[in-house]
Amino acid sequence: MKLLLTVFLCFLVTLTSIPTIANGCFEVERDALLTFKAGLHDPGNLLSSWHGPECCNWTGVICHNLHQHVVKLNLRNPLYWGDNYFDWESHVLTGKLNLHPLNPVLLSLKYLTHLDIGGHDFSNINFPKVACSFEYLVYLNLSGSQFQGVIPHEIGNLSRLQSLDLSGSN
Ligand SMILES: *[C@@H]1O[C@H](CO)[C@@H](O)[C@H](O)[C@H]1NC(C)=O
Ligand SMILES: *[C@@H]1O[C@H](CO)[C@@H](O)[C@H](O)[C@H]1NC(C)=O
Ligand SMILES: *[C@@H]1O[C@H](CO)[C@@H](O)[C@H](O)[C@H]1NC(C)=O
Repeated sequence: MKLLLTVFLCFLVTLTSIPTIANGCFEVERDALLTFKAGLHDPGNLLSSWHGPECCNWTGVICHNLHQHVVKLNLRNPLYWGDNYFDWESHVLTGKLNLHPLNPVLLSLKYLTHLDIGGHDFSNINFPKVACSFEYLVYLNLSGSQFQGVIPHEIGNLSRLQSLDLSGSN
């Protein structure tokens, strides 16, 4: 009886320690993405699909087809400011003051390999240090996003990085 109880308890502990996944999206990852969204002005509604439980279906969010963790964030602005400035301006993501969109909560996206938020306007925002802490990152594109300040030396922590584009920063 005692043994049975122990086995049952172990089973219960295992069950509760598995992260919650609902409809193909880990809750902790969805919450991180919603925090990211909350830090942005989005006049062109680029992130209008970012609601509801299925975060793997949201625009620009790509999940691994087996383990279903978010692996890519492809949020590059489809428009280029040099082509039509007014079109671009109405589709550009900008940061809200005092709330860095690349908040440390984004580190919940532990399996992120690609991060592309190029072509937006983060000119009032410091370089996102958090981008230096994604262990599996191979591709980082902050091109044209005009982040300001110094590039932190922690960028050297990205040991798997193969492509880095910071062109057009302040
Ligand atoms: C989410 O994507 C899956 C797989 O592509 C699809 O079956 C499902 O209908 C989608 N759900 C929504 C709400 O779009
Ligand atoms: C980064 O994104 C820009 C567009 O914002 C694109 O032109 C450039 O080719 C990309 N860089 C890399 C290395 O893929
Ligand atoms: C960079 O790596 C060092 C050594 O592993 C670690 O102590 C530090 O916290 C890391 N910094 C970031 C921003 O990830």
